[in-house]
Amino acid sequence: MNIAVAGTGYVGLVTGTCLAEMGQTVVCFDVQKEKIAALQQRRSPIYEPGLEQLIQKNMSAGRLSFTADEKKAYGEADIVFLAVGTPEQEDGSANLTYIEEAVRSIARNMEKDVIIVTKSTVPVGTNERIRQMMERLKPPFLRISVVSNPEFLREGSAIHDWFYGDRIVIGASKEDEEAVAVVAKLYEPLGIPMMKTDLASAEMIKYASNAFLATKISFINEIANICEKVGATIDDVAYGIGLDKRIGPQFLQAGIGYGGSCFPKDTKALVQIAGNVQHRFELLEAVIQVNNKQQSMLVEKAKQYVGCLRGKKIALLGLAFKPNTDDVREAASLVIANQLIGEGATVVAYDPIAVDNAKKHFPPSVQYADAIIEAIRGADAAFIVTEWDEIKRTPLSVFREHMRTPIVLDGRNCYSPEEARRSHVTYISIGRAPVLAGVYQTE
Ligand SMILES: NC(=O)c1ccc[n+]([C@@H]2O[C@H](COP(=O)([O-])OP(=O)(O)OC[C@H]3O[C@@H](n4cnc5c(N)ncnc54)[C@H](O)[C@@H]3O)[C@@H](O)[C@H]2O)c1
Repeated sequence: MNIAVAGTGYVGLVTGTCLAEMGQTVVCFDVQKEKIAALQQRRSPIYEPGLEQLIQKNMSAGRLSFTADEKKAYGEADIVFLAVGTPEQEDGSANLTYIEEAVRSIARNMEKDVIIVTKSTVPVGTNERIRQMMERLKPPFLRISVVSNPEFLREGSAIHDWFYGDRIVIGASKEDEEAVAVVAKLYEPLGIPMMKTDLASAEMIKYASNAFLATKISFINEIANICEKVGATIDDVAYGIGLDKRIGPQFLQAGIGYGGSCFPKDTKALVQIAGNVQHRFELLEAVIQVNNKQQSMLVEKAKQYVGCLRGKKIALLGLAFKPNTDDVREAASLVIANQLIGEGATVVAYDPIAVDNAKKHFPPSVQYADAIIEAIRGADAAFIVTEWDEIKRTPLSVFREHMRTPIVLDGRNCYSPEEARRSHVTYISIGRAPVLAGVYQTE
């Protein structure tokens, strides 16, 4: 089997590399020539733990190659995985132009029967439209099949998730049963539970999964906000809820909301998908609203404890939307940086990995530090936005030592209130009582 992958982003690159690691021959194609040039020199254009080593290993073994030439990519392909972006448009719906471009390119260049496997997250009905486009554009003597195979990997642990995922979903219409068997065989060695369904259900499973996870996050964040007002502690409350097996402990960490390239766009797209069939998805609308408010919460708290932010030096610790990735798309840090600058503060940011990406998206006045201590030195307040291990491992006493006024606003609950008391910092976190430096507090 010759496998081609369209798109060498977070999903395409992991898909291509992991398929090669499983012994397949894979060629990855991208329209961004600089990405392909870097990959041809064995450098990964994205940060994903373990990925670059796996790329190098499989290139050396002759199983993995990269090309910016669509003929080389699709001419010999038996299977093409679609992993191009489906970003959100102004109205929240998914932009399918990259999918359409890729489909046209496959149709133009295919020289064999081909199975198209859609990994990109696409609205319900898109795979059917892909089939219609392909039928119209392909050479008449060749056959195509279309399989929906939504991706569930998490950035930061994508390779682990490929090999040890919870499930593999394969959707297709009845006429493509042969193609389903071929795709299922590819995945078989992984031993991951596989479910087969129709195209629309497979597409819906992906959106419904992300919507449910986003709902869990907004739910626990609202509970945390109430905890602050009634004197309860979110850590105990979340633990107590999570002990119920019907609920489970995962995705109950209160914080300043979800970000990244998936939850924000997929929740909005699902609201649109529902709207298209005259169904108002009110629950999900509320989840989105709660998340938007939650991302702004730390700045409001800062004004309460620091006072006017004009002219203040604020350290922003963590820029990636979550640890172990360089992805800053829809990150809370971006919302916070813009707000702080709007308030007239000077923002000095630190992130162990995501600074290069941040520089492309953040306001130009943001300054960047090479180390945590450099960011917090002389600062009037420090915001913790991403729970990188390096940040979590920095004792609060270090903040006390280096800041002008030791006010730490922790959007990820990285520290215990006890440590804050011992370290004599003012410590404001989510869903817990504030700890005020210099104020003697009893339990
Ligand atoms: N990032 C995640 O964690 C994740 C997880 C599950 C699903 N998804 C979905 O997978 C899809 C890809 O996401 P991503 O994060 O990898 O996106 P990305 O932006 O990192 O990568 C997309 C890549 O596609 C390339 N591209 C655009 N048009 C192309 C074309 N015509 N031919 C070939 N390449 C083309 C772009 O240049 C880019 O390199 C999206 O639909 C996303 O919703 C993402």
